Amino acid sequence: MPGAVVRWHVARRRFGGSVRSFHWLAALLLVTAITGCEQQPKTFTAVDITGAPYAKDFALTDHTGKQRTLADFRGKTAVVFFGFTQCPDVCPTTLSDMAEVKKKLGADGKKLEVLFISVDPERDTPALLAQYVPAFDPAFIGLTGTPEQIAATAREFKVFFQKVPGRTEKSYTVDHTAASFVFDPQGNVRLFVRYGTPVDAVVADLKNLL
Ligand code: NI
Repeated sequence: MPGAVVRWHVARRRFGGSVRSFHWLAALLLVTAITGCEQQPKTFTAVDITGAPYAKDFALTDHTGKQRTLADFRGKTAVVFFGFTQCPDVCPTTLSDMAEVKKKLGADGKKLEVLFISVDPERDTPALLAQYVPAFDPAFIGLTGTPEQIAATAREFKVFFQKVPGRTEKSYTVDHTAASFVFDPQGNVRLFVRYGTPVDAVVADLKNLL
């Protein structure tokens, strides 16, 4: 309620000396604040990106070899995260957080779909994703494609990724955007969840959407 806070400060400046007026005004503001809350639009911990002109769709191969687009997940709240199976920390943390989010959603967890898009298509084959992604939750889906498809998908989502050379040609890592995109059941992108957002905050945001 930023409006109420501003009004409070104005009142304090004006009535700073008069304690009685101040208390009366505080009571009035409190009532305004409480009734005002009901008219507030839903607020989220995540960044609300409703109506964003990007992150519209993808066309990739899932870990069972099936072709997938966003339309396959209509009717569900889809969380899309970009990463790679050899990621040492960010990706496994995000996936285990999402598994916990799903558990905490209880029965609503069935309406949640978690999609992990690989930014390492050279190493992350569908077979490898099939071993890695469902280990966090059997319903989670890994997606990959040709390097061109992955690059196009990352561009569409405004996601950054870049190979970082390792000691050998095969031991490279990949720097990547560490955030999740949340789609509502109608397939519209709604939220951008930063890496490290507490599980309970994500749960509350998703309950707001579901
Ligand atoms: Ni990662």
